Amino acid sequence: MVKAVTADYRYYNELPERGDFYREVIAGFSQHPRRIPPKYFYDEEGSRLFESICEQPEYYPTRTEIALLERYAGEVGALVGSGCYLVEPGSGSCEKARLLLDALRPAAYVPMDISCEHLRAAAAGIAADYPWLDVHAVCADITREVSLSFIPEQAKPVMFYPGSSIGNFDPDDAVEFLACLAQIAGPGGGLLIGVDLKKDHAILHDAYNDASGVTAAFNLNLLQRVNRELQADFNIDAFEHFAAYNSVAGRVEMHLISTRKQTVNIDGHRFAFNAGDSIHTENSYKYTQDEFCVLAQQAGFASCAVWTDADRLFSLHFLRVR
Ligand SMILES: C[S@@+](CC[C@H](N)C(=O)[O-])C[C@H]1O[C@@H](n2cnc3c(N)ncnc32)[C@H](O)[C@@H]1O
Repeated sequence: MVKAVTADYRYYNELPERGDFYREVIAGFSQHPRRIPPKYFYDEEGSRLFESICEQPEYYPTRTEIALLERYAGEVGALVGSGCYLVEPGSGSCEKARLLLDALRPAAYVPMDISCEHLRAAAAGIAADYPWLDVHAVCADITREVSLSFIPEQAKPVMFYPGSSIGNFDPDDAVEFLACLAQIAGPGGGLLIGVDLKKDHAILHDAYNDASGVTAAFNLNLLQRVNRELQADFNIDAFEHFAAYNSVAGRVEMHLISTRKQTVNIDGHRFAFNAGDSIHTENSYKYTQDEFCVLAQQAGFASCAVWTDADRLFSLHFLRVR
């Protein structure tokens, strides 16, 4: 859990004042099926629920990736060298970065996240626990252009993108996003990225349908957020969490399914739902090791090292900009 600790770190807020939430929800609801981009899961409550998902016994990705980082931090350190700027888009609790800081001894750590209060608490915790480290926390939407002008020209940015968050992008968009990371890292710069592997569908199904219902609460919190922030009147009890692996597309899809015929009002816009109608809230693409290497290559990276666990559940790639 993130502790609220007061300590010294720099904070930059790059989110637009009014935000894009309203515009993107209304635009997403004019598509078929309706959709809301997954970045909107992460208000304060969503970030808290995500951390709880990571602790569920069915949710293997977090503990598997942590074990890989603990085991291979020294090898990553040898590839990266000391004194880099470690830049982490979608940093969440920053817990995984902690596993690298001693091995990498970066000059600065740059956590970036759309969930501002959660980011601030996590950055303050890092600054308190690593007094030798410069911490620059950037609240931003990483799918938009973000200025990191405080990074000195001669600095070596190394990107860190764990949690298989790359799986939330459709493959073409993933290549585009990876190319942006390559641009920040610059020629010869590095990217350490965690990527969930294709596997037995039952393991995937359970991971996104935990018995305690935390993933369901996380998914449904999106509608609560729309109610809170966009003056909507979703009846949360009239929607159900649905998550399943789509083997043709190679992704776990999450949806919210209307359990009855109903009309929802969002700030004056009315949307009719029949029983069974879906709001598509997230894709989590799964890749084989080779499939991901192809995407990374298309984005301008060369593969340097890949580590996986013995059960081949999860992969950790170190890539260099070609
Ligand atoms: C799946 S969680 C992963 C958190 C952490 N990196 C980990 O591996 O446990 C995704 C994180 O990315 C953040 N996030 C999602 N979309 C974002 C966006 N477009 N811009 C910035 N942060 C985003 C969320 O707030 C959340 O903290």
